[in-house]
Amino acid sequence: MGQSITFHKADQLKKKPDAGQLGFGKYFTDYMFEMDYTLEKGWHDPKIVPYGPISLDPAATIFHYGQEVFEGLKAYRAEDGRILLFRPNKNMERMNQSCARLNIPKIDEKFVVKAIKKLVAVEQDWIPNQPGQSLYIRPFIIGTDAALGVHPSSMYKLLIILSPVGSYFGNSMSPVKIYVEDEYVRAVKGGVGFAKTSGNYAASLKAQTKSEELGFDQVLWLDGVEHKYIEEVGSMNIFFKIDDEVWTPALNGSILPGVTRNSVIALLKHWGITVKEKRISVKKLFKKAEKQQLKEVFGTGTAAVISPVGFLKWEDHVIKVANGETGKLSKKLYDTLTGIQTGKQKDELGWTEEV
Ligand code: COI
Repeated sequence: MGQSITFHKADQLKKKPDAGQLGFGKYFTDYMFEMDYTLEKGWHDPKIVPYGPISLDPAATIFHYGQEVFEGLKAYRAEDGRILLFRPNKNMERMNQSCARLNIPKIDEKFVVKAIKKLVAVEQDWIPNQPGQSLYIRPFIIGTDAALGVHPSSMYKLLIILSPVGSYFGNSMSPVKIYVEDEYVRAVKGGVGFAKTSGNYAASLKAQTKSEELGFDQVLWLDGVEHKYIEEVGSMNIFFKIDDEVWTPALNGSILPGVTRNSVIALLKHWGITVKEKRISVKKLFKKAEKQQLKEVFGTGTAAVISPVGFLKWEDHVIKVANGETGKLSKKLYDTLTGIQTGKQKDELGWTEEV
């Protein structure tokens, strides 16, 4: 790779959305990044082009066998005008781990970070700057071979699109309601659960719909073999404050290794809090809750940031966590993380990168 990125100017720019109405992933900027892969040329022809539909053969691998990986990260506008990215190298590292599992050729991580920075710099007027807002960056790779035989594609497209966003859930710090899904599973060890790939999300939709019909925000997934151990929540990793310790399910091959998860563990340890990455049975968790030891529950993710959980349901047991309110630790993590991301707080761990 190491090639220069060409720029193709749009004839017309879009009207920006009202900053109060952003929601999540509803609006897209004027430009996108695009690069192709062939066996002969490898990754080639990197360019920034006007955002718009792409043309693909109806037989393309992505449509039939779901050969795809994606990432999610954000750009923030600091008060002093700087544009900051949060640990973009971590996302690119994970993208390559996903590529390896999905049999997609690896990317040059540094080059793709450079492409992200260039695209964000072009689109900097789209970065919203109210509290809780950012420019969401979605890089993804799709198999584009026109062939119906089940085999890895020989051609791919890497695209990066940008979306100005507010909070993923309606109100960023109002606690969400989740329930333990005991019929469907998200992923199994040996499968693609640890990879950020569309199939994992497709597999989650039925249960997500069920959860909404039952009046919940998201589902808490159990392991796919014994249906006993907690894995993750719809679009987040999950943490439990048990007395003075924090527990989170250990990465086991079927859980997504979240960049926010990794950052939260590092912050908690930095503050001297004991973090245990372990196998957590749902039965044990509810026992801890019965004994009043479950103090807080929160989800973590790029989109979700830190999302406190106020209600938890499993079969006919219901727990109201932290009185249905945002716990102190969840609030401190949210403030610290968003403080670092937006340049308000000292970045002691060296996580931000300027565009
Ligand atoms: C993210 O947090 O970036 C995600 O990818 C979660 C979801 C929106 C799919």
